[in-house]
Amino acid sequence: MSETPIPLCVPHLAGNEWLYVKECLDTNWVSSVGLFVDRFERAVADYVGCRHAVAAVNGTAALHVALLVSGVAPEDEVLVSDLTFIAPVNAIRYVGAWPVLIDAEPDHWQMDPQKISDFLELECEPRRDGLYNRLTGRRVKAILPVHILGHPCDMDPLIECARRYGLSLIEDASESLGARYKGRHVGSLGHIACFSFNGNKVITAGGGGMLVTDDDEWAARAKYLTTQAKDDAVEFIHGEIGYNYRLTNVQAAIGVAQMEDLDSLIDAKRRIADVYLRELASVPGVQPMGQAPWAASTWWLFTTLINPQVYGEDRRALHMRLAQGGITTRPLWQPMHLSPAHRGVQAYRCEVSERLHRDAVSLPSSAGIAAEDQRRVVASIVR
Ligand SMILES: Cc1ncc(COP(=O)(O)O)c(C=O)c1O
Repeated sequence: MSETPIPLCVPHLAGNEWLYVKECLDTNWVSSVGLFVDRFERAVADYVGCRHAVAAVNGTAALHVALLVSGVAPEDEVLVSDLTFIAPVNAIRYVGAWPVLIDAEPDHWQMDPQKISDFLELECEPRRDGLYNRLTGRRVKAILPVHILGHPCDMDPLIECARRYGLSLIEDASESLGARYKGRHVGSLGHIACFSFNGNKVITAGGGGMLVTDDDEWAARAKYLTTQAKDDAVEFIHGEIGYNYRLTNVQAAIGVAQMEDLDSLIDAKRRIADVYLRELASVPGVQPMGQAPWAASTWWLFTTLINPQVYGEDRRALHMRLAQGGITTRPLWQPMHLSPAHRGVQAYRCEVSERLHRDAVSLPSSAGIAAEDQRRVVASIVR
């Protein structure tokens, strides 16, 4: 008999989702305005500790708009994590700017602050109107760290770099809602930040995104751009080219219910991580991701390195073997400097991300995973 499948990371809908969606249907408020959109925005802003939140149709759209409102212009450059899901790097290209890919650091796999600082100091020069990359001759406008896998980047050095060189600091916190850096929520550390509520994230709205900022003007402009840049809703007068990026009330209704459960969902993720950390600690060749002393990770997607020489199997073989038993695992993303989609963009000393991609595998981490299913995953790895 084949075993029941264990997915990688699926939604956990166990609260008021049904009630709130029914309310949308009962009241006929199903589309892109409605009280749940406002409530969702308020809930996220309050949780993260920002003055404003603007909902968007997904995290990628939120990133696109965050880049626009923070003043990134065509032919500018944005320093961005090399080891990331592709969305933030694509969003930089949507605005006609160029990514400069910065390596991951080896300890917690986040964007390397030392390499950012080296790049800005050694490879760039100040000119009258900003900092310029000597190699490309382009202006460096922003830093876009991606907090991957539920763990925060080391933000203080990035905040200092942004301040020193007058750069915008845009956090991609899509995978890390609820994570803290030195006690402060990711999303509240830079000038503007984005979240995703895609189905595999710590909370979901079916799909959806949000940007948060303390800047009144940026927030107003983000709302304007996400709603087709409408100046006069009666006469259909649009001041510029905007986007249809608004979240629907039905999605926001799910998001509001999920926000009510966010802390318990994060607790569940932490319990899952504790089990993996305990059970895998003594398996030779298996080296799980760690947590920095200054971090409170949400452990969104538990990931481990596999040393094939010591473990006797590489992460691909492990993935295949577990798949045969119905267990879904996943490698980390191809580093962006190897991505055909971004061929030719500048990559700054990207060595660590390649090694992490070669050896890392993410394990089932759904908040609702049954204890016996997690035991099955562990047993398949321990052998
Ligand atoms: C780091 C990161 N940024 C951005 C996104 C894009 O979010 P969305 O899928 O909601 O567009 C995702 C995931 O989906 C992500 O993992």
